[in-house]
Amino acid sequence: MENRYDDILRIHNQDILDLVPYNPFLFTLGALEIRNAATKDSRVLEIGSGEGDSAVPVLRRTDVKLDLLDVSPEMIEISKHTLGEYSERTIFICEDALEYLAKADSYDIVFAAWTLHNFPQDDKKKLLAAIYENLADGGMFILLDKVYPMTGQQELLERQNARYRRYLSSDVAEAIIAHEIEDASDAFRMDQDTLLSTFSEAGFASAEILDRIERDVILVAKK
Ligand SMILES: C[S@@+](CC[C@H](N)C(=O)[O-])C[C@H]1O[C@@H](n2cnc3c(N)ncnc32)[C@H](O)[C@@H]1O
Repeated sequence: MENRYDDILRIHNQDILDLVPYNPFLFTLGALEIRNAATKDSRVLEIGSGEGDSAVPVLRRTDVKLDLLDVSPEMIEISKHTLGEYSERTIFICEDALEYLAKADSYDIVFAAWTLHNFPQDDKKKLLAAIYENLADGGMFILLDKVYPMTGQQELLERQNARYRRYLSSDVAEAIIAHEIEDASDAFRMDQDTLLSTFSEAGFASAEILDRIERDVILVAKK
């Protein structure tokens, strides 16, 4: 699957993360959900681990061993530094998510933070189906991501883009705003009701949005 979060966005990832309202609250909730669900032997995977920002709260608040998967060698290298103090509990895997899931042993908990929205609709469905197939019986998938509510979508998009315009240098603002506009197009946008149906079609027994900040949610799905 193509990586749409690369080059200038990858280089300025921290400046962008500083301007998103879900940070750090939804990262924390994701970590606490894993703490509630995990046992000592749970196999836990993050898909699209980036620079390690979403893994830090998980490693800080739990004792789990974490497999971190990202297709970008640059992101993997940075995350090894970010997560250096947890080296005994981390394994880094540089591979495409679909290719990895097709052959990996099953996981008890899989999570993905602000990664799923980057894929075209068909690839999203394939990835959710692959996660479902991989999960152990009773396993759990935690999605932290941009899932638009059914009304007020344009206003929420504009509110976030205004922050980028006001506080980022013009080239970075232009790049992330173009990315946001494409994310909000029919080819990529995740709408709450449609997404919940996709989870059900993939086979998940339940999928529930636990919390929301503007466009961003924590969703917990059980196999
Ligand atoms: C927006 S970043 C999110 C990073 C991190 N989870 C966070 O919340 O800060 C999305 C990540 O997904 C990775 N990615 C994109 N396509 C991928 C693929 N096909 N397989 C695995 N990772 C992918 C990108 O390299 C990038 O690091």
